[in-house]
Amino acid sequence: MSASDQLRGVVLAGGTGSRLFPLTKVTNKHLLPVGREPMIFHPVKKLVEAGVREILIVTGTEHMGAVVGLLGSGKDFGCELTYRVQDEAGGIAQALGLARGFGRGGGLVVVLGDNVFEASLAPFADSFRKQGRGAKILVKEVPDPGRYGVAVTDGDRVVRIIEKPKDPPSSLAVTGIYFYDQEVFEVIAGLRPSARGELEITDVNNAYIKRGDLTFDALPGWWTDAGTFESLKHANDLISKNS
Ligand code: DAU
Repeated sequence: MSASDQLRGVVLAGGTGSRLFPLTKVTNKHLLPVGREPMIFHPVKKLVEAGVREILIVTGTEHMGAVVGLLGSGKDFGCELTYRVQDEAGGIAQALGLARGFGRGGGLVVVLGDNVFEASLAPFADSFRKQGRGAKILVKEVPDPGRYGVAVTDGDRVVRIIEKPKDPPSSLAVTGIYFYDQEVFEVIAGLRPSARGELEITDVNNAYIKRGDLTFDALPGWWTDAGTFESLKHANDLISKNS
């Protein structure tokens, strides 16, 4: 990756949406409304706003047709969309593994399809391009860190990330916005499923920490996921208040 390379985007929109059942019984979580638009418009628009023009959407077999019907080629958003199917909900890192080949040697900016946030990703995309290799995560101070991956910091370094800790060591949630070089696919290939049977994105980030190759920034503005009833309502409130 060179500093002038364009980053390519990945939106992960698979999974079962089980925490939103029965809203997700016959549809995909990312098609549910947040404000006046389907949830998945948000990450796609944030990537386009940051100058990302080629975006891969990953989702499951059941709702791929609806997702393609909604987003189409990407021309309405000013980008070019590509799609890949995740056969089963084997975890965020498994879904990201399907982007192998899409990045064509360049850097990737990955956004979880249920993350809704205020800030532009442009400055972080710039700083990752300058970084030139490794990974970058964005963290956010939250009142309920136990729901997320939680970053343990030492000065200006993240020394460890713990996924949904019972006793959170800090209030810094790892947001679902990640920047990776192509090494990420080697890292994913070496992962083992976690206790819940998934390939975890937190294990990917911890592997980059071990290599001394992970940087982090604080995400300004508001941020939430929209994967539970409470957070979906919160996301709707935030979007309505700010649009
Ligand atoms: O929102 C940030 C959090 O997202 C991070 O702090 C956590 O470290 C990270 O593990 C993740 O936690 P969640 O429990 O919220 O992940 P969830 O299973 O809800 O998946 C989030 C998105 O990832 C989902 O909207 C779609 C995508 N996904 C998920 C799975 C399990 C896939 O594309 N495929 C999958 O198999």
